[in-house]
Amino acid sequence: MLIDTYDRVATDLRVSLTDRCNLRCTYCMPEEGLQWLAKPDLLTDDEIVRLIDIAVTRLGITEVRFTGGEPLLRPGLVSIVERCAALAPRPRMSLTTNGIGLRRTAAALKAAGLDRVNVSLDTLRPDVFKTLTRRDRHHDVLAGLEAAREAGLTPVKVNTVLMPGLNDDEAPELLAWAVEHGYELRFIEQMPLDAQHGWKRDGMITAGDILRSLRTRFTLTEEGAGERGSAPAERWLVDGGPHRVGVIASVTRPFCRACDRTRLTADGQVRTCLFAREETDLRGALRSDAPDEEIARIWTLAMWGKKAGSGLDDPSFLQPDRPMSAIGG
Ligand code: GTP
Ligand code: 5AD
Ligand code: SF4
Repeated sequence: MLIDTYDRVATDLRVSLTDRCNLRCTYCMPEEGLQWLAKPDLLTDDEIVRLIDIAVTRLGITEVRFTGGEPLLRPGLVSIVERCAALAPRPRMSLTTNGIGLRRTAAALKAAGLDRVNVSLDTLRPDVFKTLTRRDRHHDVLAGLEAAREAGLTPVKVNTVLMPGLNDDEAPELLAWAVEHGYELRFIEQMPLDAQHGWKRDGMITAGDILRSLRTRFTLTEEGAGERGSAPAERWLVDGGPHRVGVIASVTRPFCRACDRTRLTADGQVRTCLFAREETDLRGALRSDAPDEEIARIWTLAMWGKKAGSGLDDPSFLQPDRPMSAIGG
């Protein structure tokens, strides 16, 4: 079991499959991209499956989320999913993606055993999409979303980050669109995890701003107490339901006390938190033929060091060296 000193138990493993991405969202990375991890440093497909096997059979992990960068850029993704679906006990599996490659892969991913997807989409306007992501791929994301729904990778969730002066006027429009198409929309507060270190608290759109904007067009009723569990999203029924909208307010309403997550980077480092400044190496152990038992022990010890919270409110807060795109959201 992955337990920490605050009595939280990690049952949800987030695995970053690559740090690369085919978009360049302005709140994430610079136009020229980043210094990507070198191929020999990346875990191989076999190493990833082995670590997930250890997590599931020895450490109590029940949920596996594949992230990136952009996880659909990893050639072995479908086969990794297929091999994880054969593990006992079988973990629930989901994918967080920018959606561009989904039209091509949704059916194969479903057949391999993937349960559901979360797709990032910040705007309904192709020109704003191009400004925000620096790529002209809006149409591909919409097509990917539809392919995911048709393949049964449901519920399909849509993640939206609002940026001042770019798309912050779009919240009600996005929600109307999500309700119409049957996607569960969640707005995410911008976090200080960008590679450029340009985040400013007074420059971000808060959960309060988002709810105010949505309430100009919809009646929102807060979901009953206790329904949130360890999910980062707080949810509201839209116009009495059944449709819901979520807000992930990591900055203004953090959910760290209920956190049930452990993370693995594409180069085999355990992270206890998105905001952690320390990492624990598993790749070295894997490559020096350590037995499963030893790897499980290193992972367990790493989680024991998990901090109480993100530290965002500490005056001495420092962003982790690894940006969001290399941690896996
Ligand atoms: P589901 O609701 O189960 O689909 O999971 P999720 O919302 O955690 O998944 P997703 O990958 O779509 O993440 C949505 C947003 O939540 C992203 O911006 C993540 O960075 C953020 N997030 C995920 N895990 C954490 C976490 O441990 N801490 C914080 N503060 N934010 C997180
Ligand atoms: N703050 C908040 N969300 C972010 N994402 C990427 N960078 C940030 C950030 N700095 C979002 C992406 C995607 C999700 C996994 O995280 O838009 O929807
Ligand atoms: Fe790529 Fe996600 Fe970063 Fe956008 S936010 S550049 S989709 S990794």
